[in-house]
Amino acid sequence: MTHAVADRSTVMCIVGARPNFVKVAPVLRALHESGQFRPVLVHTGQHYDASMSEVFFRDLDIRDEPVNLGVGSGTHAVQTGAVMRALEALVAESPPAMMLTFGDVNSTLAAALVAAKGHISQAHVEAGLRSGDPTMPEEVNRVVTDRLADLLFTHSDEADENLLREGVDRARIHKVGNVMIDSLVRLRPRWQGASMAALGEMPARYGVVTLHRPSNVDEPGRLGRVLESLIEVAIDIPLIFPVHPRTKARLAGTSVPGVRLVEPMAYLAFLDLVEHAAVVLTDSGGIQEETTALGVPCITLRDSTERPVTVRLGTNRLAGEDLRALVPAVRTALSSARVVPTVPLWDGKAAERIVRVLERTLGHPLEPRLAG
Ligand code: UD1
Repeated sequence: MTHAVADRSTVMCIVGARPNFVKVAPVLRALHESGQFRPVLVHTGQHYDASMSEVFFRDLDIRDEPVNLGVGSGTHAVQTGAVMRALEALVAESPPAMMLTFGDVNSTLAAALVAAKGHISQAHVEAGLRSGDPTMPEEVNRVVTDRLADLLFTHSDEADENLLREGVDRARIHKVGNVMIDSLVRLRPRWQGASMAALGEMPARYGVVTLHRPSNVDEPGRLGRVLESLIEVAIDIPLIFPVHPRTKARLAGTSVPGVRLVEPMAYLAFLDLVEHAAVVLTDSGGIQEETTALGVPCITLRDSTERPVTVRLGTNRLAGEDLRALVPAVRTALSSARVVPTVPLWDGKAAERIVRVLERTLGHPLEPRLAG
């Protein structure tokens, strides 16, 4: 590393994958509005197809021109290592005062390691989530990123409890709310009609499916069982399934009766599709939260969730490992009245709260985080 002097107002936001773009957009906006920071956006290139990246920047009004590290796909070590190499060189040249990481993808982990080794203060947005499932790559990313973060921005009581249980100093934890919901609140007025514009005529009543977790799609036997369950659900209600590239590669042209397979959708069209769905079946993390905010019944095709608040509030149910709970859960969802829960601090203002904390913090050195 060089010894270039950090610009005390530079906040580097590192993103790489689709859900990160949704989370960084309100934070960039709030950093600009504060007038006290020079935000620098770094896109690692983990997601690179236009449908997984550019369209999100457009829909989310991200005007900052990102520095693109262009790392692309690879195994965990290859991808994480590639981000670390490129990012280390970048921060050596122009060290920021603070690095902000988002969520739990490989780019998040890589950025957290670079910040820690480069002695750069770092904050983790969406800290404290734990599924308890160490086989999920994201769980490893969450645990390590939180361990290295100087500031931990959380969105729920459960997240705070997880961090306190792991011995994180309470002074580092700031419950600010949910930045993903900031984007949803701001853009909701803009998405009406966007799904029909993208997909054409749709059934009056439909369900939405998204699947991309390696644990559901990488192993052909498991994927086959998931598809059989979807075919069973589609007897009750037609399904629309925007297919993630990882899943598309595994499906290799397979057709699924009753299920309309479509290309990955942009942010506005997808949220419009979800808002008007009768039920959502997913293994995504973010969609469990978005359906909660919209009051849309969600069934998560996993046996654990790092977002238990969505289950506690009643919008989300876990289908379980063997998927036996899936069809009954869909029937219950279809016959129940919709409730839109109020979640404290999921109000569209999380990014503003983050920036208030950064305004207070930058310029006041933090204790070394690995002490003790
Ligand atoms: C990643 C995150 C996951 C997150 C998801 C959101 C990790 C470990 N996983 O999973 O937590 O929920 O993003 O979408 O960071 N591909 C393309 N085009 C792209 C991007 C990927 O075709 O623009 C294909 C490639 O074949 C690639 C595969 O998708 O190998 C997987 O991409 P990758 O970023 O490694 O993981 P995701 O499954 O997208």
